[in-house]
Amino acid sequence: MTLNQADFEYLARFVLENSAISLGSDKMYLIESRLAPLCRQYGVANVSEIVASIRRNPNSKLSSSIVDAVTTNETYFFRDTKPFDELTNETLPRIIAKKGARSSLNIWSAACSSGQEIYSVAMMIEDNFPELRNWNVKLYASDISNAMVERTKAGVFNQLEVSRGLPTASLIKHFNRKGESFHVKEYLKGRLQVFPLNLASSWPSLPSFDVIFLRNVLIYFDPLVKQQILQRTERVLNKDGALFLGGSESTLGLKTKLVRETGKFCPWYRLPGS
Ligand SMILES: C[S@@+](CC[C@H](N)C(=O)[O-])C[C@H]1O[C@@H](n2cnc3c(N)ncnc32)[C@H](O)[C@@H]1O
Repeated sequence: MTLNQADFEYLARFVLENSAISLGSDKMYLIESRLAPLCRQYGVANVSEIVASIRRNPNSKLSSSIVDAVTTNETYFFRDTKPFDELTNETLPRIIAKKGARSSLNIWSAACSSGQEIYSVAMMIEDNFPELRNWNVKLYASDISNAMVERTKAGVFNQLEVSRGLPTASLIKHFNRKGESFHVKEYLKGRLQVFPLNLASSWPSLPSFDVIFLRNVLIYFDPLVKQQILQRTERVLNKDGALFLGGSESTLGLKTKLVRETGKFCPWYRLPGS
């Protein structure tokens, strides 16, 4: 049975309220296909029954499964390459030089999906910055999806995932193979703190970050929500820190203090006066 207009509108509102992701009416097919596996999982006949169930009980486990199911988790190791080149060759050397004796570094992947982004950063640091071994380097990763938070914590990837963007040398060096899966080695996992966070709702108290990756997530939000997220980001970005957005994202038309830098490899953003 296909979703009727009223059920679709209810679902779209539910998703908007719970994740700030706005689903236009052209997304009806997408939402049905994303929710179909939940019908099997929860033993209901169709997506309309899923809607009936969350109408009765909006705070059930099914509700968080819906948010998990509609979010787009596309990601891969060293995605787009250039932000990692900028980080390795420009951003980190500059931040390290400025910090001098203050030997701590905080990096945050703010919509981490299954973790490839933050593990790419972890591998890059391990391979290129031996001087940071004596620093207090903390890598943070968060996502709205509990399933993605758990996947990032686990650091376990399948054959297809490790074949996307990950150089063979890094696979050999930083992963242990167990049967068909590849497990990130403990020395990288141990640096990670992974937590659930809906970027569109109020944020808990967070440390301040030297580098923030906020990539390929703003695209899902309305301009006002984007702006609120950028303003919260400004508050947790260090004076000399760098913010990276996704390749198709920018602050254009949004009220924010952030200043765009062209970068040597890709654009990035900083606070004014830094
Ligand atoms: C396309 S992935 C991007 C992953 C990674 N940053 C990258 O660029 O490869 C988008 C991620 O944003 C997460 N997401 C969607 N809405 C969110 C929200 N309101 N708060 C936090 N994360 C959200 C999704 O669960 C998904 O994992």
